[in-house]
Amino acid sequence: MSSKADRENVALAVSGASGSVIARRFAAAVLEQGFHLQFVCTRYGRLTWEHELEESLDDALAELGALGKLTVHKPGDMASALASGSFPVRAYAVIPCSMASAAAIATGVGTSLVHRMADVAIKERRPLVVIPREAPLSPIHLRNLLTLSEAGATVLPPMPAFYQRLESLEEVVGEIVQRALAAVGLIGELPQGMQWGGGE
Ligand SMILES: Cc1cc2nc3c(=O)[nH]c(=O)nc-3n(C[C@H](O)[C@H](O)[C@H](O)COP(=O)(O)O)c2cc1C
Repeated sequence: MSSKADRENVALAVSGASGSVIARRFAAAVLEQGFHLQFVCTRYGRLTWEHELEESLDDALAELGALGKLTVHKPGDMASALASGSFPVRAYAVIPCSMASAAAIATGVGTSLVHRMADVAIKERRPLVVIPREAPLSPIHLRNLLTLSEAGATVLPPMPAFYQRLESLEEVVGEIVQRALAAVGLIGELPQGMQWGGGE
């Protein structure tokens, strides 16, 4: 018997900022939970992914799509289902979110499917998590991120919880992915080990 998650879509947009590893782990976690992943990646998202992960995006998508629960959209395809609020999507994520994409989403300039997808999430008041990555952040970046937050998105910078004394980048990424899943309601609560006072 199929579960409810089997029939539900989760959308992930990848843009050209550092942090592709977070997107890859988030995609895997969404698929592990049984959701159908709707995926879109910008030109520079692809370039960054291939540089940072040392794998071709197409190979990664072939692996992630092995269970037949992955749909890949082209970033320029405004006729895609993701461009419409009539397409049911339970949760949206932009991971990582470049400052260029943050600016485009904050101003509503939906010239790429990545931006239009986030625009749809905001106008339909659906859960949206944005993991921005830039350092340092300029006043322009901060204003755009504030706009996204005020519009209802969860802005989740990949800042480690140092108090958890995580020992590897893998652990840090795992923690951020859990926070992203929780932010859009794909997990009910953070794993116990990540809760202050929650024990191991
Ligand atoms: C290897 C690489 C790393 C980059 N890292 C970042 C980053 O961390 N944050 C950022 O805002 N832009 C970064 N950029 C610049 C963006 O890719 C650039 O602004 C691009 O136009 C973003 O377009 P997109 O949002 O459509 O992917 C990076 C570019 C490259 C080539």
